[in-house]
Amino acid sequence: MNADELGGIARALVTDGKGILAADESSGTMGTRLEQVNVESTEETRRAYRQMLITTPGMDRFISGVILYDETIRQDAADGTPFTEVLRRQRMVPGIKVDTGAKPLAGSPSEKVTEGLDGLRERLADYRELGARFAKWRAVITIADDLPSRRCIEANAHALARYAALCQEGGLVPVVEPEVVMDGGHSIERCYEVTAETLHRVFHELSEQRVEPEHMLLKPNMVLSGKDCPRQAGVEEVAEATVRCMRATVPAAVPGVVFLSGGQSDELASAHLNAINGLGPQPWELSFSYGRALIAAALETWRGEEGNVDAAQRVFAHRASCNGAARCGIYSVDMERQPVA
Ligand code: 13P
Repeated sequence: MNADELGGIARALVTDGKGILAADESSGTMGTRLEQVNVESTEETRRAYRQMLITTPGMDRFISGVILYDETIRQDAADGTPFTEVLRRQRMVPGIKVDTGAKPLAGSPSEKVTEGLDGLRERLADYRELGARFAKWRAVITIADDLPSRRCIEANAHALARYAALCQEGGLVPVVEPEVVMDGGHSIERCYEVTAETLHRVFHELSEQRVEPEHMLLKPNMVLSGKDCPRQAGVEEVAEATVRCMRATVPAAVPGVVFLSGGQSDELASAHLNAINGLGPQPWELSFSYGRALIAAALETWRGEEGNVDAAQRVFAHRASCNGAARCGIYSVDMERQPVA
């Protein structure tokens, strides 16, 4: 693996007008999502759902890569074509979630530390063989009166850095995801403080583990008011705080910052990304790696029915196009009212 290849993959993932689809829900999370639309979660319904998404005609105009889950990367479309091949034919890069989940942190049960380092070198080699060219690991940081603890941030940052180093060694671009979650009544100022502290620590650990910033992507939360905060910061305020936080913490050598949606509504996730890109050129590309904010409406339309596939794909393509525009700073709410093409 030469380093130019990794840089090329990282840059392709944040190419102009495009972002990443996170379709890497674990079977447990996918089960919850399917239950919400009254679909029983089986290996086949999970496969059919992912097939609906990734065979959407024209999605490659807005989607550069798709993050898959261990079960999904081994699945095929109905005609027997492996999902990874379906993606490659549409010029989208297959990615893979490689952490094994956020577990209670010993001694601090309301905080989490993400697991998955044991055997990771071998799993990465296996995923690369299956076609993956980038990987994702999500750390979860919770805000409360006395949280996060310093050791929670440190433990998660250390694990993220060891994961990222193994990815680069094994020929996959690491997408480093430290998520400060929206749950809670905290202010946007508090979210800024915790996000900045977390990112400082993450980049310190990445440097300690000799992770090359040119060959990775950062997947952070936006800087937002907590979900239950009585004062919800407006779109421009979120954009300004988010960009200020990234400028204070993210090395210019990182090619791209791909935000998670984290429970924001579909429209707000697009509006925030659009405003972020409206603040003028930054050292890195500013794009999306959305899960819920890309798939929620399509899932609701699909509901497990073969007859709904075309309509669900149109809904998905519309959301992808809104975020493709937001990623260039040319999204407007008028796009929401346009018929789904
Ligand atoms: P959301 O956009 O739904 O937060 O999902 C992104 C993701 O990959 C979380 O790990």
